[in-house]
Amino acid sequence: MSKTIIISNRLPVQLQISDGGLSAIPSVGGLATGMKSVHSGGESLWIGWSGLTDEEIPESLENEIDKALENHGCSKVRLTENDVEGFYFGFSNRTIWPLFHYFLEYSEFELDFWNTYKVVNQKFADAILEQAGDEDIIWVHDYQLMLVPQMVKEKRPNTSIGFFLHIPFPSYEIFRTLPWREEVLQGLLGSDLIGFHTYDYERHFLSSVRRLLGLDVSFNDIYLDNRVIKVDSFPMGIDYKKFRDAAVAHEERKENNKSDLQQKLDNHKASAPDTKLILSIDRLDYSKGIAKRLNAFEYFLNKYPEYKEKVRLIILAVPSRSNVPQYQLLKREIDELVGRINGELSTVNWTPIWYFYRSLPFENLIDLYTSSDIAWLTPLRDGMNLVAKEYVATRTDKTGVLILSEMAGSAYEMNEALLINPNNFEQQADTLKNAITMPKEEQMARNMFLQKRLERYNVEVWANEFMNALHKKSDVEDVNISR
Ligand code: ADP
Ligand code: G6P
Repeated sequence: MSKTIIISNRLPVQLQISDGGLSAIPSVGGLATGMKSVHSGGESLWIGWSGLTDEEIPESLENEIDKALENHGCSKVRLTENDVEGFYFGFSNRTIWPLFHYFLEYSEFELDFWNTYKVVNQKFADAILEQAGDEDIIWVHDYQLMLVPQMVKEKRPNTSIGFFLHIPFPSYEIFRTLPWREEVLQGLLGSDLIGFHTYDYERHFLSSVRRLLGLDVSFNDIYLDNRVIKVDSFPMGIDYKKFRDAAVAHEERKENNKSDLQQKLDNHKASAPDTKLILSIDRLDYSKGIAKRLNAFEYFLNKYPEYKEKVRLIILAVPSRSNVPQYQLLKREIDELVGRINGELSTVNWTPIWYFYRSLPFENLIDLYTSSDIAWLTPLRDGMNLVAKEYVATRTDKTGVLILSEMAGSAYEMNEALLINPNNFEQQADTLKNAITMPKEEQMARNMFLQKRLERYNVEVWANEFMNALHKKSDVEDVNISR
């Protein structure tokens, strides 16, 4: 029987060695949290990097590591420290990530990064070729592995290969600045189906293929040699039931079973019942617009000083890619901004911003989602943004206001949210005021539509639609499509 093989750099868990022992922690980020739900059906194998370099793995732990990953239905690709430096911290996160998020000035075009990216993509392709049977379906994920489809296709021309990009595909004008742009496109074109979160990303990709490779593109089909490659958009959903059930269980939890965080949030509510909690959750990443959000919050408090002591902003930032200089600078900037704003505006009874820099267990995420009156997410560019969807899913009584950046892929499907331009402070200050004063009936009416849509287009439907499109593609090809 054929199985699906998922390939991504990040596995659903990351392994760590501390005090000589091995531990597995859940990975953060939309790819890992979304695909985890798809993978939990137990019928797939997930190949990726364990989070440990070869140099960090003592021989004595080798078997234990394989076993630990096997328990999660995973298998590892071995990477050296040098690989991780050039491929992960380098080409993936210092070249492609900033470029595809329109931070052209952060993008570094280093030949060494590119060479290591090629070597490491080949390692992933080899792992697939070693472990996949001829009938298996290969599903490659994200910008770290854009050369893998072609590397596999060359060796196994009859294998079905799908690729999904979890980040934006930028406009042709941005993409064409990449020195290795043709190679990247050719790498992707080893796939039979290429998926994006939105129609815009799909159009940008097709336009680059046409203009840079001169290929024949008709609607969303690309004609290459004797193959037809399908390109389409599949907006990723969340595991709606998981978030919904967790929120219901959270509601029913007895007083003495509550987490410390929930008890603190409850105490806060009891001591200041009129204070609105505004929540933002992101990986600490410049694409998420955290610094701008802090400045916009200060702007709001100055424009509408009557809300001083009446609102509190909770910023939860998850440490991310901390070896990359831009992330280190951002961390410093945010620490300083939070310190300055709190220093200037705090009163004896009130600290405007609560700032947490850590990853939290799932239970605490639910505490925050369910306790916050407003979720305020302001990415400057974001492939999708699942946090927006998760917040809405946990609002069991349908109250709560979502303020969401137009620059997030999820904004295309979440029209009932209050959509903002993260660069427009005036608009954000007014929108915050609107959110704080929004009548409950309006909140509920908006969330009703949002929840229905999230429930219907959940992550399972997303994965099935992608897989069905891939299957349909191979069926048609059996009948031999050619032009
Ligand atoms: P990105 O993929 O760019 O990180 P998304 O919003 O699409 O952004 O996905 C983030 C995922 O990481 C969500 O599923 C969210 O639940 C999870 N997450 C975010 N912050 C935390 C945190 N502090 N602790 C644990 N999980 C988190
Ligand atoms: C985004 C990317 C994922 C990545 C995640 C976390 O969601 O699309 O590919 O896994 O961020 O980033 P990290 O660098 O920790 O894997």
